[in-house]
Amino acid sequence: MRSKISEENPLGILGIDHLEFTCSSLETPTKELFYKFGFQKTAQNKELNTELFTQGQVRFLLIDSKDENSQAYKYVRDHGEGVSKISFLVEDCEHAIKTAVERGGEMVQNLKVEESEHGVYKTAMIKGFGDVLNEFVERPRTFFRPGYEALENDESAQPLSARVARIDHLTNNVPKGEMRKWVDFYKQVYGFKVTRYFDIKGVKTGLQSEVVQLPLGEVIIPINEPEEENGKSQIQGFLDLHNGSGVQHIALTCGDILTTVKELRERGIKFLDIPHTYYEDIPKREFTVEEEISELEDRQLLVDGDEEGYLIQNFTETYVGPLFFEFIQRKKHNGFGEGNFQALFDAIERDQVKRGYLE
Ligand SMILES: [Fe+2]
Repeated sequence: MRSKISEENPLGILGIDHLEFTCSSLETPTKELFYKFGFQKTAQNKELNTELFTQGQVRFLLIDSKDENSQAYKYVRDHGEGVSKISFLVEDCEHAIKTAVERGGEMVQNLKVEESEHGVYKTAMIKGFGDVLNEFVERPRTFFRPGYEALENDESAQPLSARVARIDHLTNNVPKGEMRKWVDFYKQVYGFKVTRYFDIKGVKTGLQSEVVQLPLGEVIIPINEPEEENGKSQIQGFLDLHNGSGVQHIALTCGDILTTVKELRERGIKFLDIPHTYYEDIPKREFTVEEEISELEDRQLLVDGDEEGYLIQNFTETYVGPLFFEFIQRKKHNGFGEGNFQALFDAIERDQVKRGYLE
């Protein structure tokens, strides 16, 4: 295999191995949510009270936070439920931690090597943004981690007929004035490049955002900061509820979003509702969609794009603390739906005018 370690990817990151969701207990509604999303429980560690949920290449590790000496306990105490660790799959863990520290990363755990009947398992950790840890993992592809029991059949599983494939991106919210610092962190420590910048001004939802990523999109992280510290903006609302920086949303890639979102809605997952006026404007925007607009409206999906291509997306309500999920299908377009802020804003306003709420 050709090495992934290069100037563009100095740590040799292959992708996101898994995300840790810290919850108050394993019987949290989050578990039910993962089932409704079509995940299946594929491994567990009864001693640590953790359960692994898998779908396609997406792995969410649900962690109970009762152990007072654990990072999970501290995370829930200080922030409530949310993503407490991002675990990156790396080619060579020893190289990754050594290079990360040389490049300015703050070590939390030096290289740890564990042997198991499945092979050698290596981890190391540095501090990430806020209280979110960044882990490097080098492991056999077929085995999650030592101490975990693999589960074959999960009777509670409700697979989707069009499943999600991978994590498209992972958006972080940070306080006003900190975006630059964390963009620099990902650039310096990880060698990520900035690929997009946007400054969105709504009436209530001003935000600035920069996207950092690896060249092939193995990891994509948009970082948002609110426009005003004390305003009632969407980003500030998250920071107040979460008591500081955190993962705001996780976008999951779909191969057939029309089917996936229809099924999720049937299962009771709540998505953003979009006024009819939004769909009236689609033909006037700068991209053309293959789907029937009536079908997009029927599924209540958003679209955004440019001359090259477009994406289809929608966002759920907040489900784990202030964290929400995005479902996204890309059709030759690498944006994040920036155009929808303005489009939705205009559509809602015209809808209000129609209903006599605004003049
Ligand atoms: Fe997103």
